[in-house]
Amino acid sequence: MEVIIQPTSEQASVIGAHIIANLVRDNPACVLGLATGGTPIPMYNELVRMHREEGLDFSRVTTFNLDEYVGLRPEQPQSYHAFMWEHLFSHINVARERIHIPNGMAPDIVAECEAYEAAIKAAGGIDLQVLGIGSGGHIGFNEKSSSLASRTRIKTLTAQTQEDNARFFGRPEDVPMHVITMGVGTIMETRQVLLLAFGQHKAQAIVDAVEGPISAMHPASILQMHPVAKALLDDGAASKLALNEYYRWVYDHKPDWQRFVRKRSKG
Ligand code: PGA
Repeated sequence: MEVIIQPTSEQASVIGAHIIANLVRDNPACVLGLATGGTPIPMYNELVRMHREEGLDFSRVTTFNLDEYVGLRPEQPQSYHAFMWEHLFSHINVARERIHIPNGMAPDIVAECEAYEAAIKAAGGIDLQVLGIGSGGHIGFNEKSSSLASRTRIKTLTAQTQEDNARFFGRPEDVPMHVITMGVGTIMETRQVLLLAFGQHKAQAIVDAVEGPISAMHPASILQMHPVAKALLDDGAASKLALNEYYRWVYDHKPDWQRFVRKRSKG
């Protein structure tokens, strides 16, 4: 895994936005996999700025979100539908018909999950998947012990995840217990992964993911098997990594052609 460590989450988020913007410029009809949670918000803000100030064009982009709560209507403020419109979709020129988020109100959850997988395939697969990581190591809502080959399906949240997400709901017991999430296997089929983690409270999950043994006890650790996975971290999230200094050394010595923040030609 390529590990990129920046002093602050803001700086890391700007790099993440450049990675996505480069992809969108190189392949305007690309397929983006998107995540919710507190972590990607500054990166989405930067993408919105690039759209407004630099004309970054999302008009041909297709999106697939990782997950959604079961039983929340899209218009409920805690739903991931509402989150994505609030933080990204309302502010860029993405076409509504190319946005995909699992329907947590689907009467037949199994059929909804199968249709979601089929829609990803029909779109040609996901070019770049944005991921956060739970304090317990989940990606999407694939909690500890999830099958590392799993597909989009219903999952039951851990009490820890309900507690972590209670800030959006008021009380942990108000957080829905069930979710639809892309599976670990679904995530592993994406062509590139961008894992974002900020803050000391993510340091253990990150060391388990990046340097630990591959295990369903740390679903994010399977990303070590992904051919193009980048972990974008701030100092806090990177603080327990054994090879911390090496990752910084590598990033500082990247050849110019490998840099993500491209020099934009003048005039
Ligand atoms: P967070 O959630 O970005 O709100 O910390 C990450 C996750 O649960 O994947």
